[in-house]
Amino acid sequence: MDDDGDISLRPKTFDDYIGQEKVKSLLKVYVAAAKSRGESLDHVLLYGPPGLGKTTLAHIIASELGVDIKPTSGPGIERAANLASLLTNLQDRDVLFLDEIHRLSHSIEEVLYPAMEDFVLDIPTGKGAGATTIRLNIKKFTLIGATTRAGMLTGPLRDRFGVICRLEPYSRDDLVHIIKRSAKLLGVNIDTDAASEIASRSRGTPRIANRLLKRVRDFAEVYNKGVTDRSITVKALNDMEIDKLGLDYNDMKLLGALVDKFSGGPTGLDTLAAAINEDPGTIEDVIEPYLIQLGFIARTPRGRIALKGAYEHLGVKPDKHAAEQLSFFSDYTKNE
Ligand code: ADE
Repeated sequence: MDDDGDISLRPKTFDDYIGQEKVKSLLKVYVAAAKSRGESLDHVLLYGPPGLGKTTLAHIIASELGVDIKPTSGPGIERAANLASLLTNLQDRDVLFLDEIHRLSHSIEEVLYPAMEDFVLDIPTGKGAGATTIRLNIKKFTLIGATTRAGMLTGPLRDRFGVICRLEPYSRDDLVHIIKRSAKLLGVNIDTDAASEIASRSRGTPRIANRLLKRVRDFAEVYNKGVTDRSITVKALNDMEIDKLGLDYNDMKLLGALVDKFSGGPTGLDTLAAAINEDPGTIEDVIEPYLIQLGFIARTPRGRIALKGAYEHLGVKPDKHAAEQLSFFSDYTKNE
């Protein structure tokens, strides 16, 4: 999926981009320096949970550098020849944006190393004893890699990035700002209370905020003569089963299973996935990060456990087993 949803809502410059101040101020320096030297920007790795604006930032970097961006993704590159063709078509200082870079196959990573380091491609030719490689020069380009899982990158690949940036969940104030900006672009008249209500249920994620804004607009048009105030916003979000903290049906299903079926765990990922009929990768990448951030669950060596906050949020009293687990795992803080 596209990282930031609706392209029309994407900011186009650093100045339009709200939040991630630290990352933005560093990137501004690196971009300005590369530009003034007339060189390609060093390769950039952007990592963090989905929906925080990695794709948007990549486009902004390219546009501020005044170069073209060619987007692709780890799973989209099936053979080394696909990557070779992308690389040979780049112009000097262009950006190659490689989303989900952790899903690049090993053999393709090998092609990428010399391309990133020395701007060359080693093309295998011939067969058997006569097999050799031809070295081809490519233009000096910038690779911008994006991933939700920096830990899954191999050491050699990670080491080839000169700039590594971690994106953090947005504050509520930043999200209010983003929602107001998006509302303006969509022609929605929204007041601060309504924007604030959406922001607090958007789990620190602009993509979610923008999606909720559009659904709230639908409710406002159908039920409220197009007036987007707090009360129609609350109705819309409640009807969509998005609670005060932004937990949705899937989050509640996971928490409910962990607490009710497994007495708070520890429960292995695959067992939990089977119990709620969900893909383990989706649980790890999409559902769990926010629950961990809230301090509702933790990943322990023995499996997933529900923490005190989860019981409080569900309004459930831990049973005897769960209470014992809670005291045993009490040193598992929200950051693992
Ligand atoms: N839309 C999505 N993310 C945004 C951001 N960080 N700033 C402004 N608008 C956005």
